[in-house]
Amino acid sequence: MSQLTVSAPRFGDEAATRATPLSVSPTAEERAAVVDQMKRYQFVVIAAGEAKGAAETLGFLAETFELGEPSVPEIYRSHGPGDPLSDIRKDASSTHPGFATGTGQPMHVDGLLEPLGAVRTSLLHCVRQASTGGRTILFDACAVFDRLRAEDPPAANALLAEGVLERFTTIPGVHESSVGPAFKVDENGRTLCRFSDGPTERWHLVRALHTTSFPAA
Ligand SMILES: [Fe+2]
Repeated sequence: MSQLTVSAPRFGDEAATRATPLSVSPTAEERAAVVDQMKRYQFVVIAAGEAKGAAETLGFLAETFELGEPSVPEIYRSHGPGDPLSDIRKDASSTHPGFATGTGQPMHVDGLLEPLGAVRTSLLHCVRQASTGGRTILFDACAVFDRLRAEDPPAANALLAEGVLERFTTIPGVHESSVGPAFKVDENGRTLCRFSDGPTERWHLVRALHTTSFPAA
């Protein structure tokens, strides 16, 4: 991976990170503005019109945008918290390597054990802005992968290989993993992503390179 380079598109458009307002009873225009941002950038920052609790806000967004029922990730069905809503805050009494820490989260796709594409949307609700920190890098991995497909098809194909990316749990006492491709192009031509870069990844790129049949250039 370290030998691959690809020029990544940058968000030159400041509108990408500007919060899109959404009132309690959103108009069709307000909803369309959110959907438009989502389609364009794969993410959208929403400013809710009224202060609400996290569960109420997330339920409101799921209903407004017909996201379906929230699901509990496989890892938490048997190892807690068993709730689709995860509380992310610094907590010295917790051993969770991600949710309880005050340090930054490495780049990852949610649904560590789920098959690629199972998690269609993740919602993050900011309860209270921290006095310091919170700087976030937004990385559109699908857009970068699409660029890689155009610039270096064999490299991109290796990331489509079934066994290229293993993801494993880092929760104390829990030893589970899943193996799959890093990206997939679905039947509608959309790129789906499982690419992550942190302590929960093990790459099998060499094996993938030997088991992937590359189309003729
Ligand atoms: Fe996450």
